[in-house]
Amino acid sequence: MEIINRTQRMRSVSRKVRREQDRTIGLVPTMGALHEGHLSLVREARRMCDTVVVSIFVNPKQFAPTDDFQTYPRDLTKDTMLLADYNVDYIFAPAVEEIYPKNFSTHVEVEGLSDQLEGAARPGHFRGVATVLTILFNIVRPDFAYFGQKDAQQALVVRRLVRDLAFDTEIVVLPTVREESGLAYSSRNAYLSEGERKAAPVLRRALARAESVYAEGERNGRRLAELVRAEIEREPAAQTEYVSVADADTLDPLERLDDRPVLVSLAVRFGKTRLIDNVLLNRARTGKTGALVQP
Ligand code: PAF
Repeated sequence: MEIINRTQRMRSVSRKVRREQDRTIGLVPTMGALHEGHLSLVREARRMCDTVVVSIFVNPKQFAPTDDFQTYPRDLTKDTMLLADYNVDYIFAPAVEEIYPKNFSTHVEVEGLSDQLEGAARPGHFRGVATVLTILFNIVRPDFAYFGQKDAQQALVVRRLVRDLAFDTEIVVLPTVREESGLAYSSRNAYLSEGERKAAPVLRRALARAESVYAEGERNGRRLAELVRAEIEREPAAQTEYVSVADADTLDPLERLDDRPVLVSLAVRFGKTRLIDNVLLNRARTGKTGALVQP
């Protein structure tokens, strides 16, 4: 496993792998602080691709000034040790100046999809995500890139980005990985106090409520959202930011649930920590992994 810090080196390794060895490249883009969710992506990349690259880059452009960029957990040594066990070929861990050189002034915006839900709560977030992924895809030139269903809106934005700008990269979205308590793995779980960590599995319980009332025949989007919200509010440590019941392809809010796949997503605060989670209802069109529907 080689750790690469320079864009030029990453570019030439990737060129060599593709040209001389005719091997497929899988990229798992991360911001480090790796957990089981990331590792499930790495495992799948390893299974599918000849060469696996994991990028570790805490991207300043996707954090608002009030966000946690400075305090975001960083531990490259620990991440490297973890990835060594997964037979990863390259870690690409560039410094900020490598990705955003002096006078950097080009940004990528996926309009519409980026403005709802997380985009409304965190203006500019998906512009930062789309910009850094465009750069990473251009440097690494992956055949496949791997994302988690936990960041469902991000997965939709990335799929749209890749389609619209004709990247030669297939986006693979894999199911959310959860702790035994039901809490989805997230690097931000590290911020939770002991009490908040005990409270946070309410998110999974609330989503399970959505699944069960949907299975019982509830088709009113607003009522479904209210039931989810009520379940969250049974937990005093939880402060709901939003509960959304939306079309899983477009993220348009749904009043009436028909035969389209539905994404129920939520953002909830526990003290200073903001967590997101989601579930897909009506998975008929969502493929064997139960991951996000293809556009
Ligand atoms: O999901 C993340 O960790 C980040 O948004 C990503 C995709 C690595 C882009 O910085």
